[in-house]
Amino acid sequence: MLEKIKATRYVTPLREGGSLPGVMEADDLGTYVVKFRGAGQGRRVLVAEIVSAGLARRLGFRTPELKVIDVDPRLGAREPDEEIQDLLKASEGNNLAVDFLPGALGFEPLAWPPEPDFASRLLWFDALIHNVDRSWRNPNLLLWHGDTWLIDHGAALWFHHNWPSADPLRGFDARDHVMAPFATRMSEADAEFSEKITRDLLDGVVDEVPDEWLEDEPGFDGAQAVRQAYVEHLLTRAQGPRTWLPAPSAASGQDPVAQQGKPGSVGAFWKDTR
Ligand SMILES: Nc1ncnc2c1ncn2[C@@H]1O[C@H](COP(=O)(O)OP(=O)(O)O)[C@@H](O)[C@H]1O
Ligand SMILES: [Mg+2]
Repeated sequence: MLEKIKATRYVTPLREGGSLPGVMEADDLGTYVVKFRGAGQGRRVLVAEIVSAGLARRLGFRTPELKVIDVDPRLGAREPDEEIQDLLKASEGNNLAVDFLPGALGFEPLAWPPEPDFASRLLWFDALIHNVDRSWRNPNLLLWHGDTWLIDHGAALWFHHNWPSADPLRGFDARDHVMAPFATRMSEADAEFSEKITRDLLDGVVDEVPDEWLEDEPGFDGAQAVRQAYVEHLLTRAQGPRTWLPAPSAASGQDPVAQQGKPGSVGAFWKDTR
């Protein structure tokens, strides 16, 4: 289970993404990016964050520590923006705290071309968790203390918005993925990660999700049944047919950076829209 803390101050909203997370201070003297239960798609987004980050950490990626944070909406009383007031009111009680990485830089693939092994592992991971939120436009990667940190997994595991249609063999469209041009070692990543992802490992991951964000899910008999559905889905995907595995980059054997200017490549798209 995740550690529990209490928010003591609303510092500032983060407006880069869509979900309006807030920087908050807490009673453990830490500073956190708080993802609110009352935002957009609700508590499932927080579940996606916890499951994805737990899995990422176990596969060796860097990702900020997560805690459960109790938020009193009155902490936002001095915020002039009504949207923030409403968000806090809709989020009274437990929310998700992401350890704030001070001074972190946004990831720029052309300034720091990633290693093929890292790129392939990350693309494999995002394909496994159906994460469409790691595009050139919006990589959700931070550079901090010499490492690349994974953030913002709220859009992953989107099958949980409609459990009856969840298909563990569903394909993954990697065309927009920030690592696509660099991911030349997909079969190596596949061999490494499919071996690591066991039922035990997944059980440990889903155990970290608080019951209150899993209870009363339509079609399930309690929180534990929902946890097991995540485990079955991810285990089938990791161990079953590779219907979802992106092919290695077309840039394989060439310099991915040199590919970026070419018409039609992912890099050209990125360059045009910066
Ligand atoms: N743990 C963190 N440390 C520092 N900055 C962060 C952290 N988490 C998010 N941010 C910053 O806030 C922005 C929005 O957060 P994100 O988790 O991506 O939410 P959204 O769902 O709104 O895209 C990020 O793009 C990043 O610049
Ligand atoms: Mg984001």
